[in-house]
Amino acid sequence: MHDISRATPWTDARSGAGKDALYHDLATELAALLAGERDAVANAANTAAAIYHSLPDLNWAGIYFLRSTELVLGPFQGKPACVRIPLGKGVCGTAAAERRSVRVDDVNAFPGHIACDAASRSELVVPLLADGRLLGVLDLDSPLPGRFDAVDQAGCEALAALLARHMTDA
Ligand code: SME
Repeated sequence: MHDISRATPWTDARSGAGKDALYHDLATELAALLAGERDAVANAANTAAAIYHSLPDLNWAGIYFLRSTELVLGPFQGKPACVRIPLGKGVCGTAAAERRSVRVDDVNAFPGHIACDAASRSELVVPLLADGRLLGVLDLDSPLPGRFDAVDQAGCEALAALLARHMTDA
């Protein structure tokens, strides 16, 4: 099980090899958490919790599920968030509509950004895709500007792919 009391390599994790290692360990841990379980809500909940408690400098981590033509809030860690986001709106809706990861160094400079927590300064949204089908998005917010780089994007894309493979009842 996930051990939130374990030491996290906060300093090393901010850059370089430490960060690669952190994502590798997190993917291994998440694979074990999701193994043998198909329930999308349960698996999204454990994914949000594992990410939030493992990655440094986050103020929100969670999942939005695709429901018809909008995203609907799923399990998350952080402050209460907006429930429904139309496709194409905000960072989440843009990532969903374009089926690509969207990394925003300064949310105040992103036209249409939806502010759920005024503390958020940067954001990374990764689509959840299973066999080409959009299931929702993984959304991470940080109180630090420019918190997410290409290593974070690649690491979170691997985590999102893992979760999407374990959302077979979605
Ligand atoms: N900022 C997001 C909305 C979701 S919250 O950050 C949890 C957006 O612009 O889509």
